[in-house]
Amino acid sequence: MSFLEIKDLSKSFGSVNVLDRVTLSINKGSVIGLVGDNGAGKSTLMKIVTGIHKPTSGSILLEERELTRISTSEIRLLGIEMIYQDLALARQQDISSNIFLGREPVKKLFGINLGLVDKQKMDKDSIKIIEDLGAKVPSVEYQAGLLSGGQQQTIAIARALTFSPKLVIMDEPTAALAVKEVQHVLELILKLKSEGISVILISHRLNDIFEVCDRILVLRQGQIVADVIKAKTSMNQIVSYIVGAE
Ligand SMILES: Nc1ncnc2c1ncn2[C@@H]1O[C@H](COP(=O)(O)OP(=O)(O)OP(=O)(O)O)[C@@H](O)[C@H]1O
Ligand SMILES: [Mg+2]
Repeated sequence: MSFLEIKDLSKSFGSVNVLDRVTLSINKGSVIGLVGDNGAGKSTLMKIVTGIHKPTSGSILLEERELTRISTSEIRLLGIEMIYQDLALARQQDISSNIFLGREPVKKLFGINLGLVDKQKMDKDSIKIIEDLGAKVPSVEYQAGLLSGGQQQTIAIARALTFSPKLVIMDEPTAALAVKEVQHVLELILKLKSEGISVILISHRLNDIFEVCDRILVLRQGQIVADVIKAKTSMNQIVSYIVGAE
């Protein structure tokens, strides 16, 4: 039994069929590349894994637990985190507020909840998480919206890690980044893998996919048309699958 098993998953939005009997499985601690043309259904497939969308039919098992009938927050508690294509950081707020958004630690006096956010603890914990990731930011009190694309991506990853995930899904994490920042995000992916966390990486940048993934899945018009070990394929072959020439 694999760690994550998707079986015969289909999804329609109204009369539009977006996913067609998708079947795949993922082992613990592996990095999987998910590629395909614009509109192939990659983001939709992953949003079904995190519970944002419900499938029209099919099932998803995480360590043998069915996910398609439970809520996004329950799925998160089971260990799945997704960093969305549009990141969804609170741009006006500072870095540590973003990392702890919605789960801010509160101050207590003699065990009584004072209802005040413990900003000091939040900053201290954020500094530790960012350091552990080997990232550099001006200060945790810096406004998130003023950070570079790569720094924002790191903050989104830092936030995901505070949930102690078993699987992290990243949707186009390097699309808008400068070369050096791309390298840092790819290093972070390998760091997650070394800690036994599985990663699904969605990207149009095949160089990134080939650099960090163990296996590559190609989605074309809602169907899985290739599921190959990286060492046994080539960029040309993957491109052929993406455009439907193979
Ligand atoms: N909420 C929605 N309602 C209706 N149609 C949707 C919805 N979300 C996605 N779609 C449609 O589903 C198809 C797949 O979209 P999806 O975002 O999954 O593609 P993608 O592979 O992630 O593409 P890209 O590489 O451009 O991000 C598209 O035709 C899109 O218009
Ligand atoms: Mg997408």
